[in-house]
Amino acid sequence: MEIFVVPTASATGSVAAGILAAVIRSKPDAVLGLATGGSPLPIYKALAGHSVDMSAVSGFALDEYVGLPAGHPESYAEVVRREVTERLQLDPAKVAVPDGSAADPEQAAADYDAAIAAAGGIDVQILGIGHNGHLAFNEPGSALDSRTRVEVLTERTRAANARYFSTPEEVPLRCITQGLGTIMEAGHLLLVVNGADKADILAAALNGPVTADCPASILQWHPHVTVVADEAAAALLAPASGQVPVRVAGAAATV
Ligand code: PGA
Repeated sequence: MEIFVVPTASATGSVAAGILAAVIRSKPDAVLGLATGGSPLPIYKALAGHSVDMSAVSGFALDEYVGLPAGHPESYAEVVRREVTERLQLDPAKVAVPDGSAADPEQAAADYDAAIAAAGGIDVQILGIGHNGHLAFNEPGSALDSRTRVEVLTERTRAANARYFSTPEEVPLRCITQGLGTIMEAGHLLLVVNGADKADILAAALNGPVTADCPASILQWHPHVTVVADEAAAALLAPASGQVPVRVAGAAATV
């Protein structure tokens, strides 16, 4: 595991985008795992500034709400279209999001898992971490070998995501999420974390025991993980064997 600590959220985006741009230059048809939420946004903004041809890149979103009407602006299909596909000029036909309005969401989830495998798997999976340690929408208690499936959102997650909706009640109760086992099959996991409110859970995930109580702790078992955190989020990280935080002075830092 490599850990980069940078001064600001915007710098996390610059460092992570540098990593992705290097991957895409060496593999123009790379398969990216796309995360939504606030933390990854600076990555997409920074990546748009790189002169790298992304026309052959494909992407799979991490998760989607179940039950929002098609075209709802806060559905992840729409967020990914706006913030990723259009911004990076990806081919829309190469970008997939779980079908949260499917008549049979469990089947849609299984089909999505199979589609990732059929695409040859994900080369780099972008990730954020929830305040409760969730990865994608794998809430605490999720099996560490879980596959893409329907999950019930915790109240904490619904409260955190209420900022995107007019009223908290509008936040859906369920989602389709890539499973922890699915995520662990990606070749490289790129976790981006910002803000003091994530400091304790980031330390628990990286320095604590690997446990379903903190789904992100499974990162410790993956052979290729890069963490990019701002100073505030990294504040409680304890250097441990094999996990020496590399402090990077500014946004121009690359790997
Ligand atoms: P955030 O969400 O980046 O909006 O804080 C991260 C997550 O819930 O995984």
